[in-house]
Amino acid sequence: MEKRKAVDIFSEWANIGKDEGMEKGHSKSVTQMLSLVESHLKSKYSAIDVGCGNGWVCRKLANDIRCENVVGIDGSEDMILKAQKKDPKGKYHHALLPSWSPKEKYDFIHSMEFLYYLKDPLEMLKNFYNLWLNDDGIFIAGVDYYLENEDSHSWPERLNVHMTKLSINDWKKGMLDAGFKDVEIHQVAANDNFIGTLVMFGKK
Ligand SMILES: C[S@@+](CC[C@H](N)C(=O)[O-])C[C@H]1O[C@@H](n2cnc3c(N)ncnc32)[C@H](O)[C@@H]1O
Repeated sequence: MEKRKAVDIFSEWANIGKDEGMEKGHSKSVTQMLSLVESHLKSKYSAIDVGCGNGWVCRKLANDIRCENVVGIDGSEDMILKAQKKDPKGKYHHALLPSWSPKEKYDFIHSMEFLYYLKDPLEMLKNFYNLWLNDDGIFIAGVDYYLENEDSHSWPERLNVHMTKLSINDWKKGMLDAGFKDVEIHQVAANDNFIGTLVMFGKK
């Protein structure tokens, strides 16, 4: 059977309210990711959330008085429509990656549970570094689908969608190869049944 496009699946999810389930399910990891970047963010910064879903992380960042401009982008039109409906004043754009890149660069790039839907996520890390991030900018991304998280291995078949399975070391090497400095790898929000969201952090 031909694989489905991830963005089509997520459009369906937006229409049946599963975006809110993701918001709830990812919130613990994202809270920990945001506390990891907290001390690195400047007194005024711009931010972009990549694969923003219904835009909940953008709205969280917009509450930070230091955040002067936040944009959410997603390849699912229905997710973007939902984000705009929830937050008519917010900036949410429909953009399919990896082919799109922003006209301006950002001080902070955040991404949760997006990267592995790409065929070549490590190339995307290079794009982030070269085309998306300002000098001294901060990057953080979280993924739950990775080699060491065996419970996640069934997901591509279950959803009939492409996912790129990389190890913790692959991601770390990818961050370094992309040019990031001060690279840190964490596993956050672990519990008895979950080895944690794999988080990669780096600076330009
Ligand atoms: C698992 S959801 C996570 C959404 C959000 N970050 C959250 O935590 O609730 C993955 C998101 O990535 C988007 N996405 C997947 N592949 C994409 C692509 N090639 N270009 C842009 N967005 C994509 C999907 O539409 C979906 O909204």
